[in-house]
Amino acid sequence: MDIKDHIRSIPDFPRPGILFYDISTLLAHADAWSVAMGRLAKGISRYQPDVLAGVESRGFLVAAPLALKLGLGFIMVRKRGKLPGPTVPYEYALEYGTDVIEVQADAVQTGQRVVVLDDLLATGGTMGASIDLLNSLGANVVGAGCIIELSFLNGRKRLDVPFTSLVTYDA
Ligand code: PRP
Ligand code: MG
Repeated sequence: MDIKDHIRSIPDFPRPGILFYDISTLLAHADAWSVAMGRLAKGISRYQPDVLAGVESRGFLVAAPLALKLGLGFIMVRKRGKLPGPTVPYEYALEYGTDVIEVQADAVQTGQRVVVLDDLLATGGTMGASIDLLNSLGANVVGAGCIIELSFLNGRKRLDVPFTSLVTYDA
């Protein structure tokens, strides 16, 4: 099965000139979604994670089913102000301006092997920030994975861990 057959591209979203890769159609197709999660589970199990982390919001759609499939727990990396109790924020650069992600202060144990998941790797800013944040709390981030990689943006080069993607777009 070609997973790309189930990903829709929508021009000029969220801004003019941006081609948006929409996984709604993949999520809605039971067989294709199951195949995609099976392949990604296989790809990331090589990194031997103790726990998975997912990046709000579309990363949750990927990390939660993979955690269940692999018999692992799941950590939420969230946007600012969404998590209760003590949290640790991390500010990172966007194309224009900055953004902030957070995790709960007790989300990881020292040395815990974490694999971080998202739906899509573009510039790698979001994934790189998530990896740095989790490592700063004592985790051992051993890998990362996404469904879609926009290889022309070279996001992979910003990551200092092994990275797995299911489909690549080079333009
Ligand atoms: C999108 C996508 C990734 C990130 C990729 O999330 O889901 O998380 O951007 O871009 P980057 O590699 O350049 O950082 P978005 O912030 O649009 O929000 P969402 O997941 O809540 O829809
Ligand atoms: Mg996202």
